Amino acid sequence: MAKRDSFGSGFGVLVAMAGSAVGLGNLWRFPYLVGTNGGAAFIIIYLAFVLLLALPIMYSEFIIGRRSQANVFGAYRVLAPGTKWCNTGYIYVLGSLAIISFYCVVGGWTMAYLWKAVTFEFSVADTAVLGDTFNRTVTSNTEPLVFMLIFLFVTSIIVMAGIKEGIERYTKVMMPLLFVIVVVVAARSLTLPDASAGLDFLFRPDFSKVTSKTLLDALGQAFFSLSIGCGTIMTYGSYVNKRENIVGLSAQTAITDTLFAIIAGLAIMPAVFSFGISPAEGPGLVFVTLPFIFAQIPFGAFLAILFFFMLFIAAITSSISQLEVIVSYLKEEFSMSRKVAITSSLVVIVTFGVLCSLSQGTLSDVKILGYNFFDFFDKTSANILLPLGGFFAVIFVGWKMKKQDVEDELTSGGLHKLRPAFLNFIYYSIKYLAPVVVAIVLISGLV
Ligand code: PHE
Repeated sequence: MAKRDSFGSGFGVLVAMAGSAVGLGNLWRFPYLVGTNGGAAFIIIYLAFVLLLALPIMYSEFIIGRRSQANVFGAYRVLAPGTKWCNTGYIYVLGSLAIISFYCVVGGWTMAYLWKAVTFEFSVADTAVLGDTFNRTVTSNTEPLVFMLIFLFVTSIIVMAGIKEGIERYTKVMMPLLFVIVVVVAARSLTLPDASAGLDFLFRPDFSKVTSKTLLDALGQAFFSLSIGCGTIMTYGSYVNKRENIVGLSAQTAITDTLFAIIAGLAIMPAVFSFGISPAEGPGLVFVTLPFIFAQIPFGAFLAILFFFMLFIAAITSSISQLEVIVSYLKEEFSMSRKVAITSSLVVIVTFGVLCSLSQGTLSDVKILGYNFFDFFDKTSANILLPLGGFFAVIFVGWKMKKQDVEDELTSGGLHKLRPAFLNFIYYSIKYLAPVVVAIVLISGLV
């Protein structure tokens, strides 16, 4: 058998994992969730979930992937041969499929908006006109579909080139670039008049606005933003060699992701407040409110191009990780070549993607369980499949694997020593804390 592809360096693993984590979740979803959930209080709850829940799940997925060196399905054949654990692999494949099906639609919107920015279509400073532009763009039967296809095409080209020559190579360039752009946009936003009102909103907590919906939103966001529960970390982990430090890489990924979310908040909220707009604009925040602001500030046209280019890069480095979960599964379980695996995945993804895109307009009346296609894929993944996937990952590592094997992975065979107390803390959060919290949220979410 040909040697399995792998990452070339620790930095390569980090940028790929951070690339997956940092995405539309940070730049598009996080700001409007913060905006609609009362600001800083949401951020604090979100951070608590990342530390107590998301990290143990991330370690678990990483452990399963790296120890087995196999896809989300095959991993369990290696680690728990002869058991039914393999079947949990379906959750991850379905979860990734559900996510990429609507993610590619929003990815297409970012490209459509990048195009509008390049052709200076945003020079009107009128929210009614811009809101109308957004509506027309997403409800059209052609424009978003064309851009969605281009988005998936770019995603496929990168995944086609494999791990080291594709995913690692491209994320190594795109992630640093992304960081520079987000800092430039934040700097511009922070130097607008009255920017401090935005800072107040981001950093002064008001817990009176916290409801049970805030908790659910924060939890779903932690799963979504860190790319956990749908096998991404498991799959990337399976391409990581035995010497890399799982604990360190996971922590760095979580820190990078959080940092990006906060800087994205800094790039958006001060500008929003400076122009007296409500932060609770919801999903339209980056597609309506920001173009309105860009139309009025010096160098705004240039900033608009930078901003939507940034959204596009962030989205691509995430969509490649979603596609890779499905591709590695098809490739290894059905002995397909990469090309055949990608083509077969695309047939399904494009079909679902078209439905999600059209559900914004033509198909808006078609409902599954009360949701249009787009919301159905979004809700089933964030509220059900991701928590379920996370739950099984921690249960497997905490209850099925031997404690000694888990410690062996966490320390990379003793290469990266951890204090016994810290090691125990990680182990018991995997075994007890994470499953209990996920179960509570899952059940409350379903109810
Ligand atoms: N974490 C990505 C984001 O924040 C989305 C994502 C979810 C990517 C699940 C991979 C898997 O945009």
